[in-house]
Amino acid sequence: MLKVALIGYGYWGTKLARNFQNLEAFDLSAIVDIKNKNLKLAKKNYPLAKLSKNYEKILRDKLIDVAIISSPTSTHFKIAKFALENCKHILVEKPLSLSSKKVKKLYNIAKKKNKMIFVDYPFLFSGTIKFIKKIIDKKTYGKILEIESFREQAPTRNDMNVIWDLGTHDVSILTYLLKKKPRSIRTIKKVNNNKSLCHSAYIYLKYNNNLSVIIKNSWISPTKIRLIKIKFQKAILYCDENEALYKIKIYKKNQNLIASKYNLNIPEIDLDEPLSKLASYISKSIKKNKNKLFQNKLNEKITVLLEKINRANE
Ligand SMILES: NC(=O)c1ccc[n+]([C@@H]2O[C@H](COP(=O)([O-])OP(=O)(O)OC[C@H]3O[C@@H](n4cnc5c(N)ncnc54)[C@H](O)[C@@H]3O)[C@@H](O)[C@H]2O)c1
Repeated sequence: MLKVALIGYGYWGTKLARNFQNLEAFDLSAIVDIKNKNLKLAKKNYPLAKLSKNYEKILRDKLIDVAIISSPTSTHFKIAKFALENCKHILVEKPLSLSSKKVKKLYNIAKKKNKMIFVDYPFLFSGTIKFIKKIIDKKTYGKILEIESFREQAPTRNDMNVIWDLGTHDVSILTYLLKKKPRSIRTIKKVNNNKSLCHSAYIYLKYNNNLSVIIKNSWISPTKIRLIKIKFQKAILYCDENEALYKIKIYKKNQNLIASKYNLNIPEIDLDEPLSKLASYISKSIKKNKNKLFQNKLNEKITVLLEKINRANE
């Protein structure tokens, strides 16, 4: 059984704790948070876990195999570096870091210590994106002409802007699905005043083969929107993560009727919680000593593209 220390028992940390504790392969041995209130809750939910306010003390314990880092983004690099230096495999919440240089540094340490780095890009473990990847790879509906992604409403953060917060999901999905980089980037970014972080962004990526991607990320919205539309040559696919069951709808172009007519197809999708899939992926990767998804510099590619989007049209 792999012994896990969770650092940061806030909103997302509670979900990680539940998913890792539910798997037989893991033992949630320690929970670290700097807030008394959160440690009290951790004690109630996981009475056998060691609790602490000091991640260094917990990560020096040689019996801990994996550190899960779900503290605020601005703390990720420091804690991840310390965990790797103390010979832990690490799962870090998205975004891994706000700097590709720091991502490279973490990889250098991981290599020296022979440890693995995992990042929670939840959609890469979702049934929806797995389904879409198969369709793209098999070219079921021809080539992709256009992608639009709308990700609106989320709590405002004070250590990163909306591109690093919500855009990370879009950039991780695109990097995973398309396996290529855009050749040009244009953006419009909205801020309330000089000091505040960008809360809404419109991002336009142009890829080779005339593929256009339009992304809207916004923290500010009365309704929660998580919708990706993919226009293929022979169909238009909607992926709506807010739908409970019918998350994917495929509108197939009806060749025999006029151009505006479509046949609707609703495929069956694996609805398992992505975090539980991520947890079992981590246990298998550690057992086999092979981390297939994160090889080929996936984390570096995602961080570099996010940096470029942040710099575009400044
Ligand atoms: N994968 C996803 O879809 C997803 C969703 C939400 C949040 N996140 C990411 O998770 C991270 C945390 O976000 P959140 O919404 O849970 O924030 P949060 O503020 O609710 O939780 C962060 C917790 O970390 C604790 N903390 C701060 N500094 C610490 C330290 N030095 N040592 C130990 N604990 C410390 C805080 O007290 C807090 O309880 C962020 O990086 C965010 O981007 C990812």
